[in-house]
Amino acid sequence: MSHSILFLFIFLQQFAFSLSKLPTPPLPVLPIPTAAQLKWQRREIIFFFHFGINTFTGSEWGSGHESPSLFNPSSLNASQWISAAEAAGASLAILTAKHHDGFCLWPSRYTHHSVARSPWKNGAGDVVAEFVRAARAAGVDVGLYLSPWDRHERSYGLEVPYNEYYLGQLHELLTQYGRISEIWFDGAKGANATNMNYYFEEWFAVTKQLQSSINIFSDAGPDVRWVGDEKGDAGETCWSLIDRKKLRMGDASLESYLNSGDQQGADWVPPECDVSIRPGWFWHKSQSPKPLSKLLDIYYNSVGRNCVLLLNVPPNSTGLVAGEDLRRLREFRWAIDRIFKEDLAMGSKAKGSSQRGGKEGGFAASNVLDGDEETYWSPEEEEEKDGEYWIELRRKNATSKFNVVRIQEAIAMGQRIERHEVVVDGKVMVARGTTVGHKRLHRLDQPVRGKKVRIRIVGSRGPPLISAVGLHFDPFK
Ligand SMILES: *[C@@H]1O[C@H](CO)[C@@H](O)[C@H](O)[C@H]1NC(C)=O
Ligand SMILES: *[C@@H]1O[C@H](CO)[C@@H](O)[C@H](O)[C@H]1NC(C)=O
Ligand SMILES: *[C@@H]1O[C@H](CO)[C@@H](O)[C@H](O)[C@H]1NC(C)=O
Ligand SMILES: *[C@@H]1O[C@H](CO)[C@@H](O)[C@H](O)[C@H]1NC(C)=O
Repeated sequence: MSHSILFLFIFLQQFAFSLSKLPTPPLPVLPIPTAAQLKWQRREIIFFFHFGINTFTGSEWGSGHESPSLFNPSSLNASQWISAAEAAGASLAILTAKHHDGFCLWPSRYTHHSVARSPWKNGAGDVVAEFVRAARAAGVDVGLYLSPWDRHERSYGLEVPYNEYYLGQLHELLTQYGRISEIWFDGAKGANATNMNYYFEEWFAVTKQLQSSINIFSDAGPDVRWVGDEKGDAGETCWSLIDRKKLRMGDASLESYLNSGDQQGADWVPPECDVSIRPGWFWHKSQSPKPLSKLLDIYYNSVGRNCVLLLNVPPNSTGLVAGEDLRRLREFRWAIDRIFKEDLAMGSKAKGSSQRGGKEGGFAASNVLDGDEETYWSPEEEEEKDGEYWIELRRKNATSKFNVVRIQEAIAMGQRIERHEVVVDGKVMVARGTTVGHKRLHRLDQPVRGKKVRIRIVGSRGPPLISAVGLHFDPFK
């Protein structure tokens, strides 16, 4: 080949390349979630089942001196529990394998204080196994709770022996029941148990070795953190970011830090909102489930503030979820679907302050309306030196009223938005807030109508990436 032909060839090749070249996605803004954290966040609602000796004694914190003979559910049916979780739309359910009283719902080799000494199935039963089998059959993922505080075990208070005991039990739970998606390390301790040191580093390391895709929950993460209360209320500002170095187990002074997270935090440890459908964590004959309006408030204050809602539904002493709880759960799901199935933003024209890579770039404003969490609107990187980005929906039907605004960030690329406002028809600010994260729901005081709905992003860690904007009508408010 002569030189001139060779040059021509290279030139044509480069020309063709430049024509087909697509703009790349922007850089992530660290920290970002792991694959397991991202999967967890998208579940939105997960379930907790508190069940054990307390179910039969009416206690919340058993003493550890209860006789295993008390444990005798006449018709335990774990499939019925799982169907309750499914009724609420939960894809993960967590069982208290051992609570503070130390009674084990599986026949642990390391203690006699378990189902093996109970009359249930003549001591041959295993609640954890039945729970796991029922969940798998329904395609629901499994989590387990193993209380560090143990009021029965005699080695409790002796540092090395108890840590070994605990690790032995953890090993049983993480090797005998297949894939476990979440493990719950509760920071609760009795007043006289304060000098017991837990070897969390060892526990966490063993957990990850045995279950590589598990999320570890505790006051201090590492994968999921406590939200700082048991009411289902996340902070109005709720970052998935936090500084793990500042976290300690069971430290009440950290509750507000856990509740809001830390915009400057170097670690991605999103919060989980644990709350019970009833006043207690365990079933008590005299208690009943919270009203629908309360459950909806909880939904807005947890899922609607960038959290996962961990809803506890305690099975009763028959071994079944009570009928009134089941009815409430079905109502709850029906109400959520009633609010969110219809999106009054559908059919709108979306426009952004700019668009990365121009029209063909794949980062169009219309991505916020496509129902796909993987696609997002991205503005140009250099845009908005004054720090304001915006995205606007021009609605097809300006007369339909909405009273909920839903905004979702593409959190796989980091949580970025620091401050935002929602403005209708260029003049009325109907909502304002700080961070957004996976999902931010604004419940408006009054239903509004209007042609143009603009989300102004007035503060952001890098260009904001928005995966969804929705407008809804909540008739339950
Ligand atoms: C257990 O519960 C499931 C789901 O509610 C139900 O289909 C099944 O018939 C129940 N099993 C028994 C033995 O009652
Ligand atoms: C805790 O301490 C109190 C008194 O200080 C005592 O009566 C009680 O038995 C202790 N509880 C346990 C579980 O050790
Ligand atoms: C537990 O709930 C079931 C309904 O799911 C009910 O039939 C049973 O009577 C309840 N048991 C108690 C002790 O309330
Ligand atoms: C617009 O919304 C209003 C109120 O919901 C409704 O009555 C009307 O039929 C809608 N118009 C169109 C064209 O969809």
